[in-house]
Amino acid sequence: MKIVLLGPPGAGKGTQAQRLSEMLSYFHISTGRMVRAQIEAGTELGHRMRAYHDRGELVPDELILELLRPNLEPAGRWILDGFPRSIHQARVLDRMLEERGISLSHVIVLEAPDEVLVERVRGRLVSRSTGRTYHVEHDPPPDPREHLDPGPFERRTDDNEAALRRQLEIYRREIGDIKRFYAGKGILEEVDAARPIPEVTESILELLGHPE
Ligand code: AP5
Ligand code: ZN
Repeated sequence: MKIVLLGPPGAGKGTQAQRLSEMLSYFHISTGRMVRAQIEAGTELGHRMRAYHDRGELVPDELILELLRPNLEPAGRWILDGFPRSIHQARVLDRMLEERGISLSHVIVLEAPDEVLVERVRGRLVSRSTGRTYHVEHDPPPDPREHLDPGPFERRTDDNEAALRRQLEIYRREIGDIKRFYAGKGILEEVDAARPIPEVTESILELLGHPE
């Protein structure tokens, strides 16, 4: 099964994708996480992406595609989070999947109002060692004595009001066309993501037909 998770910044795409991939042994492909890994590793690609990322702007397509292309495995099961973010990316993805003989099973859009997104992004923490996402209140990082995630737990460099506003603007501008594109293929579904994390996971599992 190949799944795409869409939604505004802070809706919980990363959180749900990491939970589902742990529960179902799916491979989690996150373009945002790949971008941050390149920036942190100080690569040439990361250097070229940093300013866009930190301002909440989309990174140019050719740079994102360089990261994404090798990860779209025809075999196995994966959840793609953070791509596509424009109708152009949706068309490019369609072509790449077709070339590999892959068809998407579900495109799920996580919906939540702006005030919920702002509160979530404000409290977000990311583990520098694992890339896993937490929230100071709703999903606190584990106690270091449990040895589950060594951290350290930090804020993202794009977790500020200006970058969030820009990400939201871009999302609202692009999402209509993306939804129409996947609705036309009959694979678009929407989930109310303004509920507690396990409830949102349960709704997604229902849409997927509770796979093994
Ligand atoms: P990316 O990392 O994809 O950021 P985003 O789309 O802005 O989404 P977020 O990661 O902010 O939110 P999320 O929906 O994953 O929510 P999360 O699970 O973290 O992209 C970052 C940047 O990289 C882009 O701005 C761009 O520069 C670049 N980029 C990436 N992909 C690109 C592409 N395709 N093309 C071009 N550029 C690209 O949850 C948020 C917080 O809320 C967390 O603290 C979490 O613990 C908490 N939370 C989650 N769900 C719940 C819940 N149900 N209840 C309570 N709290 C919750
Ligand atoms: Zn994310």
